[in-house]
Amino acid sequence: MSPKNRSPRLVAVGSPLPLPCGVTLPNRLAKAAMSEQLGQIDGAPSQTLTRLYSAWGRGGAGLLITGNVMIDRRAYVEPRNVTLEDDRHLEAVRNWARAGSREGAVMVMQINHPGRVAVGPLHRRPVGPSALRPQVIGYNLRKPRALSISDIADLRSRYARTAELAMAAGFAGVQVHAAHGYLLSQFLSPLANQRTDQYGGSPQNRRRLLLEVVADVREAVGPNAILSVKLNSADFQHRGLEENESLDVALALESAGIDLLEISGGNYEAPAMTGVVQDSTREREAYFLRYARELRARSGMPLMLTGGIRTLDFMNEVLAQSAVDVIGLGRPFAVRPDLAAELLAGTWDSRELPCAPRIPGRGLDPVNSYLQLAWHAANFRGIAAGEKRLRGPGAVRTLAAAGATMTVRALTQF
Ligand SMILES: Cc1cc2nc3c(=O)[nH]c(=O)nc-3n(C[C@H](O)[C@H](O)[C@H](O)COP(=O)(O)O)c2cc1C
Repeated sequence: MSPKNRSPRLVAVGSPLPLPCGVTLPNRLAKAAMSEQLGQIDGAPSQTLTRLYSAWGRGGAGLLITGNVMIDRRAYVEPRNVTLEDDRHLEAVRNWARAGSREGAVMVMQINHPGRVAVGPLHRRPVGPSALRPQVIGYNLRKPRALSISDIADLRSRYARTAELAMAAGFAGVQVHAAHGYLLSQFLSPLANQRTDQYGGSPQNRRRLLLEVVADVREAVGPNAILSVKLNSADFQHRGLEENESLDVALALESAGIDLLEISGGNYEAPAMTGVVQDSTREREAYFLRYARELRARSGMPLMLTGGIRTLDFMNEVLAQSAVDVIGLGRPFAVRPDLAAELLAGTWDSRELPCAPRIPGRGLDPVNSYLQLAWHAANFRGIAAGEKRLRGPGAVRTLAAAGATMTVRALTQF
């Protein structure tokens, strides 16, 4: 659809959104992916994870995107991520899908491979587009191995297989994670990808793997399933993926027939997704709104904007302007699981949505971002246990959790 064909509509957070595949989101509020770290040791979803999604399902958001699910049990983003590479724990995945969607929310599974920022348990050496280590504290004491062409073919089939299994388990679709410095985002980045074959060099070559994965996944899930992609508006790094090229990638994804593009930005080295590194041209509260507007001027594909959105007025304003179609919220849902119901019912006053305070000051960006993740993730068990207003773990436990994550990451690279 060209942007010119979009008629002006009265759109607010409560309006349904039909997606190109035929699935309709009941409203415009989405819980963005948040890595729950509530898988079992074998990668199966735990009952706590299922209860967490029951709570979020009751919470009113039209779309629930799971935390990243690994396509390969040898390479995790974080310990205790769910893994889905065969049907060994399909029944537990089915219960997870059912728990989230029981009250009408649409459940989409985010699928991911960490590439060079993997922690163990089984890969003794991470893989990436090139044998280049990211420069970030707590990571990659080992240099990654550059993927061969046959490794790449294997990874493609893994994305498709995980997507197929997600559908078999009752999810409404999948989201391919191509943001935040993980494998597909590494391929897009000229900094991480210095290959000289058909997967590196020119922008077309660097985006080849993402487009191949999207085509494979569409084939696996069929035309009636949601196929979403999460993409960086930019990497916010010198020689990383830049905005103009990201816009071209987004348009290529539209041509490939995706249903929803989620816009984010940054990676562990420059964590723009949590607002720790800021785009100096950023508008008001949303970190990546300017990019969304640029893309909207050229594209009619459904857009979801995530990162720093904190007021109902702002949400309704950008929806009414058709700047974006879906509002993604992460951290606020880790504090108030039933937030969407309040926003939709009009019982949320004009207060900003809650999340942990950011430590001011620069120079410690990755640590600051770890603290954000640790603080919010510490609330997930409480939400699963039925708590409605969470206060966070406190400074000492946050520091301990972030320190533990970084230590595990560092040690499992050996
Ligand atoms: C605890 C935590 C875990 C996250 N895990 C993921 C993830 O698995 N996949 C992903 O795409 N983004 C992940 N994110 C990023 C969020 O989806 C979102 O982009 C970010 O928090 C900005 O949105 P917000 O300002 O509304 O929190 C995570 C964020 C948090 C706080």
